[in-house]
Amino acid sequence: MLKKMQVFLLGLVLLAIAATGLFCLFFLSQYSDSINSQVLESASRLFIRDVRNGSTYSDAAESCQEIFEDEDGSLRITLIDDDGTVIFDNFEDASSMENHSDRPEVKAVLSDHGTATNKRHSETLDSDMLYMATYSTELGVIVRTAIPLTLYQESVRQLQFTFVWVLLATLVLLGAASILSAKRFAKPLLELKQAAESMSGGHYNVRVPVKSKDEIGALSVAFNSMADQLEREVRELEDKNEKLAELQDMRSEFVANVSHELKTPLTSIRGFVDTLRNAPDISPATQERFLEIIDIEVERLHQLISDILQLSEIEGMESELEQQKFDLSAVIDDVATLLDDKATERKVSIVVEDCEALPVLASKYRIKQILINLVDNAIKYNRPGGKVYIQATREPDRVIAIRVRDTGEGIPPEHLSRVFERFYRVDKSHSREMGGTGLGLSIVKHIAQLYEGTAIAESTPGVGSTFVVRLRIADDLS
Ligand SMILES: Nc1ncnc2c1ncn2[C@@H]1O[C@H](COP(=O)(O)OP(=O)(O)OP(=O)(O)O)[C@@H](O)[C@H]1O
Ligand SMILES: [Mg+2]
Repeated sequence: MLKKMQVFLLGLVLLAIAATGLFCLFFLSQYSDSINSQVLESASRLFIRDVRNGSTYSDAAESCQEIFEDEDGSLRITLIDDDGTVIFDNFEDASSMENHSDRPEVKAVLSDHGTATNKRHSETLDSDMLYMATYSTELGVIVRTAIPLTLYQESVRQLQFTFVWVLLATLVLLGAASILSAKRFAKPLLELKQAAESMSGGHYNVRVPVKSKDEIGALSVAFNSMADQLEREVRELEDKNEKLAELQDMRSEFVANVSHELKTPLTSIRGFVDTLRNAPDISPATQERFLEIIDIEVERLHQLISDILQLSEIEGMESELEQQKFDLSAVIDDVATLLDDKATERKVSIVVEDCEALPVLASKYRIKQILINLVDNAIKYNRPGGKVYIQATREPDRVIAIRVRDTGEGIPPEHLSRVFERFYRVDKSHSREMGGTGLGLSIVKHIAQLYEGTAIAESTPGVGSTFVVRLRIADDLS
């Protein structure tokens, strides 16, 4: 591209020089013709005057020659009669010369007795000559003067010589200039090309320096902004990929956890079924006990599956769709009653702290789920004779805080932040013994998030734990 432009420019300059040269040549020939014509005219006038003043033809020609002769020494004067006969010639013997009536300048003057010039090669002198013929009424003959064009030709040769030099010098200068400017132009372009190549190789952090304010500078700026954009997009894509990978990891971990949780009760069920089938002589009481165990395991499977379903349902939701108005304190009472038997079984008592009516707008089912999960834990991880306190209070911004406190074993601090994770259990064997799968608190946290809320745990090992769930559900409109 650059090379093409250089060749074009070079051609243009050479063409301009050639045109100038031709013009000069033309001008030079015009100019020298007019100078020569003047010389010839003056010479013939002088010749005529001298002859009229009594000089012989050859004396007059000689004195003319003395005055007008150039280095070549060849001012030629010829006198021609009306019929073309040469009367006198200062170079040749007139009597031996042929009739001149056919010479163009003579022919012209013969017809109109004026003045005529002609440029041609002279056989007699073997040189290019300029002839001028004029009719002299005083002498009654045609006076023809002529000078060779060698001077003019010499000038032309010199001009040509000069031209060759000018052309060569121009070529050298232009060549050097174009190499220099090509370097200057090509450098940023080369940098751009290299940057583009390394970008296509995946290096999105390359930028080119912007050195000028011209088109190349603008191109560099555009390139850099394109690189910025590309880098940003690539980074976004990488982030997305990373997140996707994380999600994939979480999903496979979840599947592994679920499979593991399913395996334990299934193995147990299979074992007892096999025993019942292959040992027909076991007592009915033992049979009854085995069936009881199978029943418990089936119940655990059922619980696990319904927890997983519930969790995946909440996770897929942007916001709760089924909302109704109800009194939260009434639901707290319900849950206390519901879990009273289980509490009594473990010698734990449930205390619902006094509270005013709390109108809320939410899914009753989900709020009840939160309470059941928290109170269930507070009973399960309690001690005989322990207590469970349930309290709900209003906070600013339509927030209601539900607190479930127990006087149980507590949670060691290093586990506290993790109890809301799926399948996380502080003491696996103890929890499983209680029939837990480690999904209860995870469900609580997800429901809280559904209501723009939070779920936190505080605990002092050996003293007890408090779970606080905050939800934006207060119904202020009613
Ligand atoms: N009130 C509490 N006191 C002491 N530890 C608790 C209490 N609540 C929860 N934990 C600990 O946190 C773990 C996770 O609780 P979570 O309710 O998620 O699962 P789980 O009770 O084991 O099983 P699930 O609730 O699914 O039946 C429990 O296994 C237990 O170790
Ligand atoms: Mg639980």
